[in-house]
Amino acid sequence: MISGFGIPALPEEATTAHLGVLDVLCRSPPRPSGRQLDWAQHLAVLATRPREWREFDRTRLAGEAYHRGVAVSYELDRELGIFELRDGFLEHTRRAWALLPPFDSVPPRILDIGCGTGTPSLELARLGGGDVVGIDIDEAALAVLRERAGDVGLGDRVTTWRVSLEENGLPDAAFDVLWEEGVLHMLDVDRSLSECRRLLKPGCHLVMHETTLWLDGIRERLADHGFAVRATHPLPRHFWLTHWADPLDARLRAFERSHDLNALNETTASALATHRAAVAAIRADPDATRCAYWVVARAE
Ligand SMILES: C[S@@+](CC[C@H](N)C(=O)[O-])C[C@H]1O[C@@H](n2cnc3c(N)ncnc32)[C@H](O)[C@@H]1O
Repeated sequence: MISGFGIPALPEEATTAHLGVLDVLCRSPPRPSGRQLDWAQHLAVLATRPREWREFDRTRLAGEAYHRGVAVSYELDRELGIFELRDGFLEHTRRAWALLPPFDSVPPRILDIGCGTGTPSLELARLGGGDVVGIDIDEAALAVLRERAGDVGLGDRVTTWRVSLEENGLPDAAFDVLWEEGVLHMLDVDRSLSECRRLLKPGCHLVMHETTLWLDGIRERLADHGFAVRATHPLPRHFWLTHWADPLDARLRAFERSHDLNALNETTASALATHRAAVAAIRADPDATRCAYWVVARAE
């Protein structure tokens, strides 16, 4: 097993393609409950198309940050137009925001947890009209966010900090809203909820956007940390298929047609494989990516 992730050891013949699948899997475990992605099934899907992918040095799997190292290239993401695709989800960020009750402090102070390259952070700055702090463990992503914020005139209202939610050093009760999209499922549920409670002002709200299977697992722990679900906003069925996998597939095909895949550097090849794996995983089981926003209140 790969330590802490509940994933079987990689087969000897593992390729970058397999690691793409692994990356998808590693972003999700340990799932507190619900269906697991089927490792064998996804490898089988990928086995049909590993030709262009490079062999991967399996030793790089060691270390806490392996899923970052193999899978992300923000240069590739720019070229593929990933930010624009991600923007296609913002309608739902806005709908979830609309579920929040009026704020005692205006403008509200917002923390975007695991902000990544900051698509939600930028929108939250617009919606809230005040400051957003974005935290993430990935400095490369934060650098992209700072650049994006500057480009749209929000550079003075979006602050980034490279820190883990689990050990963040931020002061108690510092925020009126905590926001997270696609992050909590990767972390220890109890430590994360405990930190969220500490960071949030009493009576204020945490908004989570996750796959519903993972949310079900998180729900079991909410009451113990003094949180209660106040509202939900489900994404339309198969949204990840129609708004991510299908358009991403078209972009990947265009990229693959216009590049010499054998000449790609290893980071780009790995990142490409990760995107391919995500497309394959979503298409293999579109219902598994059903997502929702949950608005949960911190009790006084
Ligand atoms: C799926 S991405 C989501 C990014 C962004 N929230 C969005 O919706 O576009 C998950 C992000 O969580 C970050 N992350 C992972 N572990 C973290 C931790 N312990 N503390 C803060 N961020 C973390 C990753 O670096 C990554 O940027």
